[in-house]
Amino acid sequence: APAEDEIRAIVAPMTSLEGPLLPMLHELQRIYGFVPEAAVPVLADVLNLGRAEVHGVISFYHDFRDHPTGRHVLKICRAEACQSMGANALAESTLKKLGIGWHDTTSNGAVTVEPVYCLGMCACAPAAMIDGRVVGRVDQARMQRLLDEAGA
Ligand code: FES
Repeated sequence: APAEDEIRAIVAPMTSLEGPLLPMLHELQRIYGFVPEAAVPVLADVLNLGRAEVHGVISFYHDFRDHPTGRHVLKICRAEACQSMGANALAESTLKKLGIGWHDTTSNGAVTVEPVYCLGMCACAPAAMIDGRVVGRVDQARMQRLLDEAGA
């Protein structure tokens, strides 16, 4: 896990920004792939906030993670157009098959599953995204292929 000194050095140049907390969190997540626990006391100190406040912001924004993801990140769209095309059932069966919940990672570390709200692929619903690649018309068979490819 990254040391507090390292985190302090990363965020120090950003302290003069207006509303620096979000940019700092984004930068930490860009570097580490998640916001390390050790960042909480550092940010609280640097920004003169309570630790609970920093925690609150991290958990409020779904984009921030407080733990590393698996080797692949699968996002399943949960917005309206995809829902009307069976995305809920698809998501449910996928999570059940993997034996995990939203935001969790398979026990072999292969795949993390996260919800997403519209991928701009409504015409090809239901949509999903694997490692940043958008896939449309995801039926059970296509989902299985994605999971196989990811080694889930
Ligand atoms: Fe799923 Fe738009 S609602 S891609």
